[in-house]
Amino acid sequence: MKKIVLTVAVVLSICGCSERTEAEKFADELISKMTLREKIGQMSQFVTSTGVVTGPEGEKMNIEQLVKAGEVGSILNITTPEGIEKMQRLAVDSSRLGIPILFGHDIIHGCKVIFPINLACACTWNTEAVKESARIAAAEASAMGIAWTFSPMCDVSADPRWGRVSEGSGEDPYLGAKMSVAMVEGYQGKDLSDSSTILACVKHFVAYGAPEAGRDYNTVDMSERMFRDRYLPPYKAAINAGAGTVMTAFNDFDAIPVSGNRKILKDLLRDELGFDGFVVSDYNSVREMVRHGVAKDEKEAAYKALSAYLDMEMTSGTYLNNVESLIKEGLISEDMINQMCRNILVAKYELGLFDDPFRYGGAERFRKSIYKEKDLEFARAVARESMVLLKNENKVLPLHGIERIALIGPYISCGEAMLGSWIGFGEKDRAVTIEQGLKNRFPGKVTAVKGCDPYQHLNGGMAEAVRAARNADVAVVTLGLPGNISGESASLVTVEIPGVQKELLAAVKATGKPVVLLLVTGRAMALESMENLADAILVVWHPGTMGGTAVADLVSGDFSPSGHLAMSFPRCDGQIPIRYNHKNTGRPSKWKVPPTPTHKFGNKPYSSCYMFTPNTPLYPFGYGLSYTEFEYDRIEVVNPEVAMGENVVIRARVTNVGDSEGVTVAQLYMRDLVASTTRPVRELKGFERVALAPGQSATVEFTLTAEDMAFCREDMQYAQEPGDFKVWVGDSSDASLEGCFTVK
Ligand code: NOJ
Repeated sequence: MKKIVLTVAVVLSICGCSERTEAEKFADELISKMTLREKIGQMSQFVTSTGVVTGPEGEKMNIEQLVKAGEVGSILNITTPEGIEKMQRLAVDSSRLGIPILFGHDIIHGCKVIFPINLACACTWNTEAVKESARIAAAEASAMGIAWTFSPMCDVSADPRWGRVSEGSGEDPYLGAKMSVAMVEGYQGKDLSDSSTILACVKHFVAYGAPEAGRDYNTVDMSERMFRDRYLPPYKAAINAGAGTVMTAFNDFDAIPVSGNRKILKDLLRDELGFDGFVVSDYNSVREMVRHGVAKDEKEAAYKALSAYLDMEMTSGTYLNNVESLIKEGLISEDMINQMCRNILVAKYELGLFDDPFRYGGAERFRKSIYKEKDLEFARAVARESMVLLKNENKVLPLHGIERIALIGPYISCGEAMLGSWIGFGEKDRAVTIEQGLKNRFPGKVTAVKGCDPYQHLNGGMAEAVRAARNADVAVVTLGLPGNISGESASLVTVEIPGVQKELLAAVKATGKPVVLLLVTGRAMALESMENLADAILVVWHPGTMGGTAVADLVSGDFSPSGHLAMSFPRCDGQIPIRYNHKNTGRPSKWKVPPTPTHKFGNKPYSSCYMFTPNTPLYPFGYGLSYTEFEYDRIEVVNPEVAMGENVVIRARVTNVGDSEGVTVAQLYMRDLVASTTRPVRELKGFERVALAPGQSATVEFTLTAEDMAFCREDMQYAQEPGDFKVWVGDSSDASLEGCFTVK
């Protein structure tokens, strides 16, 4: 082990020499009374013997003894308010200093009332709604005694093979940053000590969304420039929004596991981004540095994590087992431990836990705080706004004047598929299924048959489905992926719909009846091979507790779809990773429509394209239809010549040219035409939801700031450059309404 004695000087450089806050004074005072063991205890987080295990190894522990000894700072995954209260009582009454425990949980898209998965929430492009859903989640979770959520997940990803895309906000750094900020604001509110707000956790720092081959936990390696331009912005925005904690990623980054990566956790996170909260590892990730092959044993792993200023270790216990001897051997200093312990105590102070360790929670309060009618209604509205209409031939949707509906598919009565992964304390039996939703809305008109299981045939299922379709005016087929086939440890090599489900769809289509496909999924999917089997496609995601009702809201035409994709839907697996904000290359594709495999190639295209498949996705980022239609025109760049540092204002008109009311998402894209580094062909730089009645117009206005134009230049400075720019305004990343401006 290389000896680095980390001294007070280093510590001071972290906390700065500014005036101490009340919280810091309190923490310092307390630290002066604590034993080394108690301090290390504050830096240790465990799962109790009755808690949920959200990691690979049986880490459930009987931790009562440790709690009594004051050697546990935080516990995650306790499942009842009573359990939390009991453990807090033990800490406060039985440990020497009575330091309250910080209880954490994965409240990812709701606590009891489950909202659509985060990827779906991003498709609302409605930051206020996302903020409010985080506020509701915090209100429910805090009533249970949870004061800390491991959310938002700020990982940008353009790889739908990676199951965790369901927990993020998609492929775009700008949209991801806006959503991450909304979540931090929703969880933490204006005052952390308010008993209905909770601490947020920016994760997974850093670049966890770019694992090689889309396989969870896999290596991440990319240029620093790529990282700063494409992956860093959402973490940075969430930290700037005041998130109190950050979680390290499992992966190695530039060949160093992040949990022991000083360059990332100290130089970048603390010194450059100015993060002054506390850092927690991911589940066992400190110990996993041994398997990564950068530590010979757990002691060295602990040493590496401490050296990177990782304040709290989740579950693996290497701090408790090794810090004392690391100090004895002079490898780390107690001052450093004091600083890390202080970061944690400050957070507890700010949460108000020292005033009243029981301010969060209480079984009675919990019962009164959950499943509030207005929160359920809100979840329904968010679900409705998150669903994306991809296709609607012959205006099959909405189902007006329909007498007989055949509702078919493996998910029609599946509550689990409504909720998705990471469901907090959501209950699948409380979820409104699609069958319930449609039967409530169309009483006596719906015949429901499953047809098949997600991955296998059901005896007689196909025949029954075909019969139901034949006897109906329309077939509504609900296909896609089960709830647990997204989220952590759920990578796939194909994002096509499972074969048996395609067979089901083909059989139903062969009846000649109009087919509406409701796509249940936690990720973008490759639909080209079956797109022609459906007249309409509505992506409903895993829409949450009110999912079935929200589906009925749209299918019935009571509301028009308004969701727009936060992630491109590829044509086929081979295009992955796929993103709208790619680079142009020196040889951009010559083919809009590539030749078929029977083509005799005289000359190869010698351009960056596939032989038989377009480069473009089937449905691009930002795309989404409505029951009405919108037209964008009259783009105006108000100040087409600006100096460096000046804002550019862009306006455009949008008109509802259809015959019903609806909401469009106006999007602004920008391209920096010539720069010192290659720039994306388009970058999202603004968006706004606009509700319009038929015939009504509105002017949308966007302001592009110097910060919006900034990127990691050739000299590695993050700043703008002079030059010519193009902008587009419209309702997808394919928008064609174009303007331009010059920065002098
Ligand atoms: C592992 C996951 O990567 C992380 O997101 C989660 O917060 C922790 N487990 C705790 O459950």
